[in-house]
Amino acid sequence: MPAPTQFTEFIDEHVDSFIQRLANAVAIPSISGNAQHRQDVFKMASWLQGELNTLGVETKQVDLGKHVMDGEELQLPPAILGRIGNDPRKKTVLVYGHYDVQPAEQSDGWDTEPFKLVVDEKTGRLIGRGSTDDKGPILGWLNVLEAHKTVGLELPVNMRFCFEGMEESGSEGLDDLIKSETAKGTAGFFDNVDCVCISDNYWLNSRTPCITYGLRGLAYFKVTVSGPARDLHSGVFGRTVHEPMTDLVQIMSKLVATDGTILVPGVDDMVSAADAEEKKIYDVLDYSIQDVEDAAGGKIALSDDKATVLMGRMRNPSLSLHGIEGAFYGPGAKTVIPASVSGKFSIRLVPPQTPDAVEPLVFKYIESEFAKLNTKNKLKIENLHGGKPWVADFKHWNYEAARRATELVYKRSPDLTREGGSIPVTLTFAESLGVNVLLLPMGRGDDGAHSTNEKLDKSNFIEGTKLLGTYLYEVAAITA
Ligand code: BES
Ligand code: MN
Ligand code: MN
Repeated sequence: MPAPTQFTEFIDEHVDSFIQRLANAVAIPSISGNAQHRQDVFKMASWLQGELNTLGVETKQVDLGKHVMDGEELQLPPAILGRIGNDPRKKTVLVYGHYDVQPAEQSDGWDTEPFKLVVDEKTGRLIGRGSTDDKGPILGWLNVLEAHKTVGLELPVNMRFCFEGMEESGSEGLDDLIKSETAKGTAGFFDNVDCVCISDNYWLNSRTPCITYGLRGLAYFKVTVSGPARDLHSGVFGRTVHEPMTDLVQIMSKLVATDGTILVPGVDDMVSAADAEEKKIYDVLDYSIQDVEDAAGGKIALSDDKATVLMGRMRNPSLSLHGIEGAFYGPGAKTVIPASVSGKFSIRLVPPQTPDAVEPLVFKYIESEFAKLNTKNKLKIENLHGGKPWVADFKHWNYEAARRATELVYKRSPDLTREGGSIPVTLTFAESLGVNVLLLPMGRGDDGAHSTNEKLDKSNFIEGTKLLGTYLYEVAAITA
C-alpha cells in the first residue's frame, strides 16, 4: 500500500521548510560529551518537545537524574517521551532517536562552521554536525507528522516516541527508564507497542538503500599510568625515572595487532568463525573495497577480499585505540615527561560477547602485561561505558514492511546489513518490550558521522522522509 499521494506531494513541496527546520536543530550544539555544552543539550530537548507538541504529539520530559563526567557531577538531559493516536484497530509503532551530537570545531578540519547548516547547492549536501547523526532522521519523523497534520490525513498507525540526549555518551539512565516505563503497563508510554523503528545508521555505500538487523556492542576503557608528582624536564629526568608515557605506550601496543587481531586472550575466541555459507551473506551485498576506501579517504582496507572486510565490520569484534589524554599535544617540540597519561580504547562486541564477559579479560591481561614491565609507576584501569550487541529476526513483518517501503520509494530492493556501530539501548527495547526492532537508515555510508564535514544528502533527507512515512503505511497494511 503506497502512502497517499497527498503525503509524498506535501514532502516534495516543503523541502525548503524541512531544511530550515534542520538548520534550526543543527544550530543548537547539543554535545552530550562536553560538560560546557550541557545547557545546549537541555535547550535541544525543549526545542524538540516544542516541535512535537506543535505537531499534535502529547509529550513528557523524564528527568534521568545526575551522573559524573570527567570528575564533574552533572544533570542528565531528559528523555522526551511522546504519543499520538490511540486507535485499538491500528498497530502502534515506537520510534527511537537521539538529539545529542558529537563534539565539533571548525579547527578540527571542517570547511564550514559545524553548527551552521550549509546547503551546498552544487552537490546537494546539507553539511553540519548532527545532519545525519541523528538530527536529520529525527526530523524525518517530524516531517511525516507535519505532512499528515497539515494535509488533514490520519496517521496509519499509533505512534510512540522515545528521544534521548545521551546516546553519544553511553545512553546513561535510559535502560532503567525503558524498563520502568514498560512496567507501568497501560499507564505508560510504551503500552501496546507492536514494533520499534530506529533511524540512526547509514547505507553501506552511497547508492543502495538498506535495512539493518544487527549492531555491535561496546566496552570502553581508560588506562591511566602515573608516577611523578608533576610534569618533568626530560633533560633533567630522562633515563633517571620510570616514565608513565613509555609504560602506557607499551600497554597500548599489546592490545591489537596491525591486522586487527585482538590480542587480549579469549576475546576473539568467543566468536566462532564464519563458514562458507555465512560468507555468502556478505558476498551478495552491493559493496566493494573501493567503497570502504572512498568512505575512509585512503587506500587502507585491511584486505582485498570484500567478504573479509565486511565481516570485520559486521560480524567480528574489533579493538580501536582512541587517544592518550595528558600526553603533550600541540605546536612546537616541548621536552616534557608527562606526569600522568590515560590511554583510551574500546572493543566493539558481537554476540555472544557482552561487556560483563569481556571486561574481566581486559583487566586481567593489562594487569599482567603491566607487571611484566617492571616499572614503579602506578596503573589504574577504568571501564567508562558499555552496551550489548544486538541481532534481530529479519524475517519478521516489521522488516517486510521496511523492504516494501524501500521498494516503493527507491524502486529497488534494500541490502540487508548488520552495522559495526552501537546504539546501546536497542537490545533493551527488544528485550523489555518483547517486540521486533528494525533499523531503517536515512543517510549514506559516506556521510561522515562523528567526522569533519558531516553531511546528509538533500535527496536522502527528502526520500528518507518519504521512506519513514511509507513504512508506517506498510506496517498498517500487514495483517499480523
Ligand atoms: N548512529 C550511531 C550508531 C552507528 C554508528 C550506527 C556507526 C551505524 C554505524 C550512534 O550515534 C553512535 O555513534 N553510537 C556510539 C555509541 C557509543 C557511544 C556507546 C558508537 O557507536 O560509537
Ligand atoms: Mn546516532
Ligand atoms: Mn553517533
